[in-house]
Amino acid sequence: MNTDIDTGADDLTLEQQAGLGSGADFWTTKATGNVPSILMTDGPHGLRKQPGPSDHLALSGSLPATCFPPAVALSQTWDRSLVRRIGEALGRESQAAGVQVLLGPGINIKRDPRGGRNFEYFSEDPLVAGVLGSAWVDGLQSTGVGASLKHFAVNSQEHDRMRVSAEVSPRPLREIYLRAFQRVVRDSQPWTVMSSYNRINGVHASQNRWLLTDLLRGEWGFDGVVVSDWGAVADRVAAVAAGLDLQMPANEGFDDAKVVRAVLDGHLDSEVVAEAARRVSRLAHKAHDARRPDVEWDADEHHRLAREVAARAVVLLRDDARLLPLAPGEKLAIIGRFASEPRFQGGGSSHVNASRVDIPLDEIRELAGDAEVEYAPGFDASGDDGDALRADAVEVAARAGVAIVYLGLFESQETEGADRADIELPADQVELLRAITRVQPRTVVVLSHGGVLRLAPVVDTGAAIVDGSLLGQAAGGAVADVLFGVVNPSGKISETVPVRIEDTPAFTNFPGDRQRVRHGEGIHVGYRWYDAREIDVTFPFGHGLSYTAFEYDALRTDASDASVTVRVVVRNIGERAGREIVQVYASRAESIVTRAPQWLVGFDVVDLEPGESREVEIDVPLHELEYWDEDLDRWVLESGVFGVRVGSSSRDIRMTDTIDVAGEVPRYLLDSDSSIGEILRDPVAGPALSTLFEAVFAQFSDDSETDFAPMLDSLPFGRFLGTMGAALPEGLVEEALAEANARNGFA
Ligand code: BGC
Repeated sequence: MNTDIDTGADDLTLEQQAGLGSGADFWTTKATGNVPSILMTDGPHGLRKQPGPSDHLALSGSLPATCFPPAVALSQTWDRSLVRRIGEALGRESQAAGVQVLLGPGINIKRDPRGGRNFEYFSEDPLVAGVLGSAWVDGLQSTGVGASLKHFAVNSQEHDRMRVSAEVSPRPLREIYLRAFQRVVRDSQPWTVMSSYNRINGVHASQNRWLLTDLLRGEWGFDGVVVSDWGAVADRVAAVAAGLDLQMPANEGFDDAKVVRAVLDGHLDSEVVAEAARRVSRLAHKAHDARRPDVEWDADEHHRLAREVAARAVVLLRDDARLLPLAPGEKLAIIGRFASEPRFQGGGSSHVNASRVDIPLDEIRELAGDAEVEYAPGFDASGDDGDALRADAVEVAARAGVAIVYLGLFESQETEGADRADIELPADQVELLRAITRVQPRTVVVLSHGGVLRLAPVVDTGAAIVDGSLLGQAAGGAVADVLFGVVNPSGKISETVPVRIEDTPAFTNFPGDRQRVRHGEGIHVGYRWYDAREIDVTFPFGHGLSYTAFEYDALRTDASDASVTVRVVVRNIGERAGREIVQVYASRAESIVTRAPQWLVGFDVVDLEPGESREVEIDVPLHELEYWDEDLDRWVLESGVFGVRVGSSSRDIRMTDTIDVAGEVPRYLLDSDSSIGEILRDPVAGPALSTLFEAVFAQFSDDSETDFAPMLDSLPFGRFLGTMGAALPEGLVEEALAEANARNGFA
């Protein structure tokens, strides 16, 4: 953000500056002095501009807007340029509606499949969330509309969301929960960041100085506005002191007055208030100057874009019997309420009043041409008349060539503010599917749901599975495109489908006890967990099939100072044009910290005609190989060998290679509490002292079969002296440690 413009904030009184730090009403900031007011609205996958009464849970209506695919679906495209185009389209709708900041994207990590807002978030993996979050912000902000990167941070559950403390240690915090935020801030400079409702290690996000000031501004260089989530501020004075610039929504002046009093009492530095006002003012001027009320958007064009992206997001999870794409002329039974009343978005603040909605059944009829299409709802939300609806559906399915069964969750089951209790499909739907597959072996299931479902019961029926997740208002047309082969499916899931909820990483720690949720699984979130524990999954992270097939060949890796270039040749060996999503994972066999068996470090999409092959080049910055060192309090790139694993999913690795990285061997401050092993492994102290220690150990060697090496390895040097080290010359080890500390850069 340009910090040179005269923001006008310095000409304001303390009262006015404090007033700039909270909303004028539910969605706007105050116009004060020469500082204009700006309008913010939700977000993220469509505009929720409320012309009448305002609220943050979509209780009151909003103007029609395009409901693009929510983040759960966007991430299944793995396609930066498509996500960028969504951002641009959202920007056009925002400009036309006079909206200056759109409240998105949500990039929190999907820690547990039951997380109630997982549909609004991208992935269990921070690279996917960060890269696609950046593309979204780039697209939106290219139109002169600001993003609000949310919810900062560690807001991975809805249960007790305003109070719960996410208890998480520094390494998973940095490597998993903050990583995507860091990337988007660094690469895309969102105009605003939204602080979340929850606490982090005991401190409210909106009052967390380390988070909002030291990290976000100090380390990452964020120069925009930190806005609170709506109603998140518990103590405005503490929040301002921590680095919060804008409390939303309006507070009737009460909290502004507290800020003024705190300054006058000497409890709050007036400069902190002035700086927050400058930031809000800079944002307001910039947003105001970027307004383009003349921008027009074409509802048809945006609907087409929504359909294109939705179709790219559809994941073909399985089709063992090759039922898809549907053969022309086949008699179709379309079963399931969602075929006539589609489920395409979640509930709560992101809920969009869709400008139009594709009805799946109509779209199928259109693409089916002359083929006969019969429909039966099979079930409904109330569960009433279940037997009759099921019996009718079974009859319809039995007399068709293929049954397409639309199953999923109702919107009431997936809404902001509540986590799900389980990951089950409604029992009556599973029963319906079983009954149908008994009479109709040629069955395709189409799923609509925002959070992961347990799919083992669906897999057991043998049906083909087309996963729509939540696809936005064009879901109906997009799925039809895939079913009929107008689009060859290429989406891949960005969240693991576990066999059972009991297998999931946070199972024993979700949603926590008494306002605390311990992140006991550490860095082992999502596939990192299933891989580390070698747990079978129903569908692995990164999985998705195509109507064609791809072969991988000729993997090459070239390491430079800053990155590794991974090149691999991908060939379309089938009969249809198709798209493959190439994934690159890294691994590290020997590390000084516990690593995940593999972690995603790069990905790209490649479109290939039948028979065509292309070299895909993916640049992996070396910082993707780093870990966060909790003792050194910084990122460390370890020296030595890393594995490079290239594949079609996390569990379909096609080629591997290794690279040798010139990183560092981290050095730690050595003192009497350092263990013998740590001293011996230190590149300076180790060689200096190894002979001496060995001589001491030799004195104690006996005929015992017990291997004392591990015990000695972890014995603190100070305690060693007290027990068996009497033979060491006085002061010698201390001197060597001091020498090592000096040479290792510790003053
Ligand atoms: C949500 C935010 C949203 C805000 C404004 C809150 O309930 O957590 O994501 O932007 O309301 O509606």
